[in-house]
This record gives sequence, C-alpha cells and structure tokens, in this order.
Amino acid sequence: MSHEEDLFTHQDTLAKLHGNLPLTEKLRFLHQIIRQDFPFIDRLSIALFDEKTETLKTYTHSTEGNDSPVSTYETPLSNAPSLQAIIKHRRPRLVQDLKIFSKGTHEHTQRITAKGYKASYTMPLYQSDTFIGFLFFNSLQAYSFKPKSLRQIDIYGHLIALMVINELTAIRTLLAAVRATRNMTHYRDLETGAHIDRTAHYARLIARELAPSYNITDEQIEHIFLFSPMHDVGKIGIPDNILRKPGKLDQAEFDVMKTHPSKGREIIDAVLEDFSLGTFGHTNILRNIAEYHHEAIDGSGYPKGLKGEEIPIEARISSVADVFDALTSPRSYKKSWSNEKAFTMLRQMSNSKLDYDCVQALLKNTDKILEIQQRFRDEAID
Ligand code: C2E
Ligand code: SIN
Ligand code: SIN
Ligand code: FE
Ligand code: FE
Repeated sequence: MSHEEDLFTHQDTLAKLHGNLPLTEKLRFLHQIIRQDFPFIDRLSIALFDEKTETLKTYTHSTEGNDSPVSTYETPLSNAPSLQAIIKHRRPRLVQDLKIFSKGTHEHTQRITAKGYKASYTMPLYQSDTFIGFLFFNSLQAYSFKPKSLRQIDIYGHLIALMVINELTAIRTLLAAVRATRNMTHYRDLETGAHIDRTAHYARLIARELAPSYNITDEQIEHIFLFSPMHDVGKIGIPDNILRKPGKLDQAEFDVMKTHPSKGREIIDAVLEDFSLGTFGHTNILRNIAEYHHEAIDGSGYPKGLKGEEIPIEARISSVADVFDALTSPRSYKKSWSNEKAFTMLRQMSNSKLDYDCVQALLKNTDKILEIQQRFRDEAID
C-alpha cells in the first residue's frame, strides 16, 4: 500500500451531512449516530417559535413515518408554562420522569406521554441570542439520561441547532430575494400584504388537513405555508396593460398572461442560482408552486397540461388557496365574491380544474377561513 493511501483510511462518520439532504433526513441520520452512544434516545424533535403569532409549532422529528398525534401541532407559547420556564432560565431542562407533568393539562405534554415517552431533555435554540425554538431529546425510559452524558448530548444539540439555523437562513434569504425582485416592479401595487398572508394561511389549512392521508410532514407544511404566496411572482414579467386591464382579457392577452408560471419558475431558478441556494432541502416546493399552480386536474391547465397526480401536491394545494382568494377578493377585472358564492364555485371546479381532496380540506374549515379573513383584511381602498 502506498504511503498516500494510508492517510485516508478513515471515513468521516458524519460525511453524509455534506450532501444536499432535507433537514429531516439529516436529523434522522444524526439520530442513528447519537443512538450508537446513547441508545436510550428514542426521538429527536424540533419545534419552532413564530414570533409574529407567539406560537410554537412542530417542525420536524427523527422518527420514521408519520408520528401523529405528536406532529402537526401548534400552541400559543402562553399555553405551555413548562416550556416558557425553559426560555426564562435560558437553560436546557432535564425531566427524568415525565410523570411530574401528569396533572398538567397542556396538550403537548399529554401527546408526548401518550406516545410512551418517559424522559426528556429539552434545549432552547437561539440564533444571535434570539430564541427560535426547542430541540427535544425524548426517551421511552425514565431516568435514562445520566447527567454526565449531557455534555456530549449538548454538542449534538448545537450541531442540530446549526443545521436548523442554516436551513432557516436559506429560506429567509430566498424569500427576501424573491420579494425584493417583486417589489422592484409595478406588480407590488397589485398584491397586498393581506392577500399574501391569506394565501399562506389557506394553503397551510389545506396542507394540515391532508397531512395524515398524504403523508405531508410538518416541514413540508411549513414550506408550503411560506412559499404559496410567491406563486404569482412571474406576473412581474407581464406588461401592465394586461395585468391591470379592467375588463376581460382577449385571447392574445390571455396567452401572454399564461406565461407567468414559467416566468416565475425562471425567476426563482435565477434567484436560487445567484444566492447559491439551490442546494437546500425543499426548493422544489417553491419551484413547483410557481410553475404548476395553474395546472388543472383534467389536464386543461397551463403551462404543461399535467393531469391529476402528475401535478405536485404542493401546487394542487396552492391552486385552491389562490383561486379561493382570487374569487373572494376584488380584481381589476371583477368584484369580490361572497364566501358562499366562492364555495359553490370551488365545488363546481373540484375534480375538473381543482383537486377534490384539497377543495374538501378547505371547505371543511369554514370557521378557520373566517378567522383568517378577519385577521388579514385589505385596507379599504375602494
Ligand atoms: P388571479 O386574479 O390571481 O386569479 C387566479 C385564478 O382564480 C384564475 O386563474 C381563475 O382560475 C380563478 N378566478 C379568478 N377570478 C375568477 C372568476 O371571476 N371566475 C372564475 N371562474 N375563476 C376565477 P386564471 O383564469 O388562469 O387567471 C390567471 C390570472 O390571469 C389571474 O390571476 C389574473 O391576473 C389574470 N386574469 C384572468 N382573467 C382575467 C380577466 O378577465 N381580466 C384581467 N385583467 N385579468 C385576468
Ligand atoms: C414534535 O414532538 O413533533 C415537536 C416537538 C415537540 O413539541 O415535542
Ligand atoms: C413539556 O411540555 O414541557 C414536556 C414535554 C417535553 O419535554 O417534550
Ligand atoms: Fe397565477
Ligand atoms: Fe394568483
């Protein structure tokens, strides 16, 4: 054997992290590594804090498959006093026997114990001193965490924290770049902040409802939520006289309008390339939403004429969110419709244009639709 080869006999145990993997897969991989030293750690999970709404939401976890009832869950932080205490102390918390919470009514704790978890080590996560969420190490055995193992667990915890921060920063950069691109054009005047928030929340409502049957993960739900409002970014490439036309578009004009999904896809690809973001986990969700949100289940949509399940689920979801908000909002070419009229239209369009399950998922939640509409109103202009 040559001298040179001798120097390269070790394979870095974490080499897999170099790759372009979604966060969940990185977390699963690290969990396997951690279990080699700490076999009692049965689950890693991450919950993120949303500052705007002061809620904590499940983001991802290392257990295979869908592990509801613990997934797809969110709670105002004010409802979780035991977790608030962690933030107050700015320290991790070791619970050797989750029985101490058995009298607690907090839903999250009940869900965790219902799954058989007996012990937990919880680290608060910070980015530049700002609290961003929690990392949970859960064990099925009580008293399994030995205080002296915590030093090593802390190191893994910080590695995971860096992976999360890296992912969140990439998403934030991407959204900021796409938004900046949009804001540099006349198109910004046509899309209100309230429309963006509503579209995001309708899409999340649908995604959460479908999550158990379609195996949509919390991480995917979050990305659908963040990326849905960007679906029309390609409209910045459509001339004003078409975009703002008060009346119906003629065929030639509509043909131009129909180029907005492909233009959107191109803009997003360019941004991903320019910011070197092409390698983070779920950029395809954004690409697919921009390119395929006008595809129709029966194949009559554009730009590709995809049918049924050929259309990615995130695009089918965004499409229903988009059409519902378009119908219930005023446009240069139409007045806003009542919810009832819009519901009737969605029912008519479901199975031909729109995905049946996505429409049902929205219609099942009329109370939540009203809440979203109350919360995100357009400022009255006309
Ligand atoms: P948008 O205004 O965001 O509408 C998105 C989608 O909502 C439309 O996709 C359509 O599927 C649905 N939608 C909106 N309003 C109505 C309506 O009054 N009746 C029905 N049945 N569906 C409605 P579509 O048709 O592919 O249009 C894409 C974009 O093209 C629209 O986005 C809008 O920017 C523009 N557009 C469509 N029709 C007209 C029009 O007659 N005049 C003008 N000025 N723009 C139009
Ligand atoms: C989860 O369990 O899926 C998220 C984190 C938690 O709240 O335990
Ligand atoms: C809690 O809700 O504070 C306890 C549950 C956990 O640590 O995962
Ligand atoms: Fe569109
Ligand atoms: Fe739209």
